[in-house]
Amino acid sequence: MHGIAASSTYAPEDTPRASGWTEVTRKDLEAARRRGLRIVVDDVELGLEPFRPKAFGPNQEFEVPRTTLWSFPDRGSWATHRGNYRGNWSPYIPRTLILKYTEPGQLVLDPMCGSGTTLVESRLLGRNAVGADINPDAALLSRARLDFDIPSEHLPWGEGSARTFRGDATNLGVFSDGSVDLVATHPPYAHIIKYTRGEVDGDLSRMAFPLFLEAIEQVAKEAFRVLRPGKHCAVLAGDTRKHRHYVPVSLGILSSFLKAGFVLKEDIIKAQHNMKTTREGWGGRYDFYLLAHEHLFIFRKPLDAERAGLRWSTRWW
Ligand SMILES: C[S@@+](CC[C@H](N)C(=O)[O-])C[C@H]1O[C@@H](n2cnc3c(N)ncnc32)[C@H](O)[C@@H]1O
Repeated sequence: MHGIAASSTYAPEDTPRASGWTEVTRKDLEAARRRGLRIVVDDVELGLEPFRPKAFGPNQEFEVPRTTLWSFPDRGSWATHRGNYRGNWSPYIPRTLILKYTEPGQLVLDPMCGSGTTLVESRLLGRNAVGADINPDAALLSRARLDFDIPSEHLPWGEGSARTFRGDATNLGVFSDGSVDLVATHPPYAHIIKYTRGEVDGDLSRMAFPLFLEAIEQVAKEAFRVLRPGKHCAVLAGDTRKHRHYVPVSLGILSSFLKAGFVLKEDIIKAQHNMKTTREGWGGRYDFYLLAHEHLFIFRKPLDAERAGLRWSTRWW
């Protein structure tokens, strides 16, 4: 259980041994590029071509949010960020989390990294990052999005390293206990967008709600184990509708993380902009409101001595 070391001694050449995670390397990316591999997620086709970014951060108007209501109408397209991976999160979200909850050189983990948004931001902000995705194609895509040079004048904190794995978020066996400084992740919302076509075991996006929640509980347990005491775990969670009624998926996610031992530090309401209609295909034609918000839960792994004092933040009812 000592594949990826604690951040103080984090070395990108460490090789994970447990858990079935497999690293996606530059060689893998080059081989996929030679084969001309195109990646299809949901109905969107994505290429692995190299990028030459012109910008390496948000424009100067960006202000770090100060309230529990976050809204980023311009979703952010600096570096290699593109909005075309279905359900990806705006880079403003991991940027804000990384700046608030970590120091340069610390270790950030996104165990459901999709197109690699969290990893790109970590690198730009001088943090080290590890990402995994159950879908080997997504892991390749995130590796491709990390394949760009950053001029040193755009690296106020130095350059972070980032590694990408094909791996399952329910098994973080590559990390020792208490070795990660921030977990920041955005799970699928119980079969709303399907990220694979049924060929990949363990894909949360293909699980019915009860199984999905069981898997989320396991993700939460593992996230709790690998985090250093006192550190944070941020999870973006959305809800959906079935038969024109509200399905509070986010509450299931909240309760899974509390059950794992976390305390709730923040419940941020994140406004959704330009939603594709997957969740709201019926919008306007029925008797309900369009869903236009998500919850960004920020959990903390409390120190043992704090637990009693924080008991009102350890459960929901
Ligand atoms: C909402 S997307 C994440 C998007 C990401 N934040 C981004 O900006 O691109 C959720 C991801 O979870 C992945 N996933 C589903 N089940 C998983 C599992 N058991 N372990 C790891 N990743 C999983 C999906 O393949 C998908 O890429």
